[in-house]
Amino acid sequence: MILQVDKIDTFYGVFQAIFKVSLELEKGEVICLLGRNGAGKTTTLTSIVGLNRPKSGTIRFRGMEITKRKPYQIARMGIGFIPESRWIFSELTVRENLELGWRKGGGTNLLKQIDWIYTLFPKLKALEHRNAGTLSGGEQQMLTVGRTLMNNPELILLDEPTAGLAPVVAQVLGEQIKGLRKEGFTMLLTEQNALFAMDISDRAYVIDKGAIVYDGDVDGLRKNEAMMKEYLGV
Ligand SMILES: Nc1ncnc2c1ncn2[C@@H]1O[C@H](COP(=O)(O)OP(=O)(O)O)[C@@H](O)[C@H]1O
Ligand SMILES: [Mg+2]
Repeated sequence: MILQVDKIDTFYGVFQAIFKVSLELEKGEVICLLGRNGAGKTTTLTSIVGLNRPKSGTIRFRGMEITKRKPYQIARMGIGFIPESRWIFSELTVRENLELGWRKGGGTNLLKQIDWIYTLFPKLKALEHRNAGTLSGGEQQMLTVGRTLMNNPELILLDEPTAGLAPVVAQVLGEQIKGLRKEGFTMLLTEQNALFAMDISDRAYVIDKGAIVYDGDVDGLRKNEAMMKEYLGV
């Protein structure tokens, strides 16, 4: 098991946002965490990467407890987090943005890493000298994924990758994520767009009002009309 989240409770001040959330991820799996706006998806991810420390429960990455570690330590251990806000540096070129994702001392070679990213996303190579701010939403999302991969993460957490993207663009992104899955990347993605996420995931979790209400295979969820309607608005 690459990631084991065990009964975590996370608060904002006195407000409890998630309740005894547990989830597990095996190496090579792509899983999704679905739920409506405000359900607790982002909080689950920020809890994993150390940005919102849970008050109770434990989080293990490759068997090591990371619950109380700092965000930069967790990043160095190999968890890459792509927030919904997709921070890119708009005044810098695509290539410079990728360079910023690389960490000296991380045991990788900068030029090789960039070449590797260009093999995964040939489009970024074509755009390498463009300022990132001039890219389309879909291209910017590809760039944030590419920048995160510059650090060779073993696990990638993607928060609502399709938010704000037109349906056609989301479809292209879906194909790219499927491509990464074929390459063996391990990913946990959150989505309000349940149909999109189920199409690219091996398993699904559904969260509602801070608690997990479904944990199982994607087909089982698809067939569960009541659940699809109540929690996912599909
Ligand atoms: N910084 C914050 N301060 C206070 N409450 C927050 C904060 N961020 C999120 N919340 C609350 O926590 C709950 C879960 O939010 P969030 O994890 O962002 O949900 P989702 O990502 O599923 O939309 C919501 O009720 C939200 O209003
Ligand atoms: Mg969110």
